[in-house]
Amino acid sequence: MTSVSAIGIHDLSFATSEFVLPHTALADHNGTEIGKYHLGIGQQSMSITAADEDIVTLGAAAAAPIIARHGTDQIRTVVFATESSIDQAKSAGVYVHSLLGLPSAARVVELKQACYGATAALQFAIGLVHRDPTQRVLVIASDVSKYELDSPGEATQGAAAVAMLVAADPALVRIEEPSGVFTADVMDFWRPNYRDAALVDGQESITAYLQAVEGSWKDYTEQGGRALDEFAAFCYHQPFTKMAYKAHTHLLNTCGYDTDKDAIARAIGQTTAYNAVVGNSYTAAVYLGLAALLDQADDLTDQAVAFLSYGSGSVAEFFAGTVVPGYREHLRTEANSEAIARRRPVDYAGYRELHEQTFPTDGGDHPTPEQTTGPFRLAGIRAHKRVYQVR
Ligand code: CAA
Repeated sequence: MTSVSAIGIHDLSFATSEFVLPHTALADHNGTEIGKYHLGIGQQSMSITAADEDIVTLGAAAAAPIIARHGTDQIRTVVFATESSIDQAKSAGVYVHSLLGLPSAARVVELKQACYGATAALQFAIGLVHRDPTQRVLVIASDVSKYELDSPGEATQGAAAVAMLVAADPALVRIEEPSGVFTADVMDFWRPNYRDAALVDGQESITAYLQAVEGSWKDYTEQGGRALDEFAAFCYHQPFTKMAYKAHTHLLNTCGYDTDKDAIARAIGQTTAYNAVVGNSYTAAVYLGLAALLDQADDLTDQAVAFLSYGSGSVAEFFAGTVVPGYREHLRTEANSEAIARRRPVDYAGYRELHEQTFPTDGGDHPTPEQTTGPFRLAGIRAHKRVYQVR
């Protein structure tokens, strides 16, 4: 076995849905002053999945470019993180494994802890690579965020998947060892097995998030982490982009720093570009923040980036990464812009119809209308089995 000095994110790719609903359309429907959406929560639009899309098709679309670039040989583990699981037993990762033609000599598993799951996946992947640095782990974070129609949460929906290849000597970001972790049993956001849409206590969820920022930062410092002023940027979990501003302000206050608006904008502004137009992508959101930062920042070589991953319920983790020299040659900036630009606008009535759509539970044959144009689609459900199609 070879020795390993650095492990982290070797490649990162994301995919989002076929449709997009601008917040102006939602505001026109419910009479909300648009400033509340654009400024109050910091959202411009949200990704809306087509009838033939789900977390599997999004996850496969995010991971396919990684497989195309690196091949499958060293991947012996796939970890699929999601809040919006499609099956109580089978991992969504097994469908993706099949759609991508990954080797049968692989372990595949699904992880859940609301929006935090992908960070657990990343840390578990690092542990596996540490044990055998010749192996690589494919981490997929994929979610469709769904709240009740006409509820306050409705404006904070979205959908996206991020795939990350975790490897030794990574090309993008080395993940550092100390992590600050925090768990508190709170009912701020949850989704019982019989529900499609999440239940949420909005204000309680914001308070719980801020407490988790404080708790995970405290543990991070106790574990010997970096000082706050060593970080060039902060990637927060972004259920809506204004939440990153609230979180960073709270962290600065906790540490006794000034909360200068320009300094806050410099620390997090570039992490919000994709989330502001995609909406909440739960497990993927913090890594969509990283993608936006890497794609837009001038040069982050050898700079430290902070990550704050929060999952309602609640679990949080504060950790750091260092950006690797040469990282810009490995970015997917154009493809990321294209994933956002290619979405087709849906009007409010069309969005509502998609939101209300559910599969019958009678075990019959229920094909989906062909709405997507991407590489993978959910063709339907037959005898209670989801049927996927590769284009
Ligand atoms: N112009 C500018 N700003 C305006 C405005 C206007 N015309 N009208 C209102 N605002 C501002 C308000 O002042 C408020 O700003 P502050 O929070 O800075 O005070 C902001 O817009 C939102 O207004 P409200 O609080 O009145 O909004 P709301 O009650 O409709 O709910 C919400 C907002 C709680 C975020 C709701 O959308 C929600 O429940 N979302 C789902 C839960 C969520 O995302 N929670 C985040 C933490 S939990 C988490 O992170 C895990 C996860 O992914 C779910």
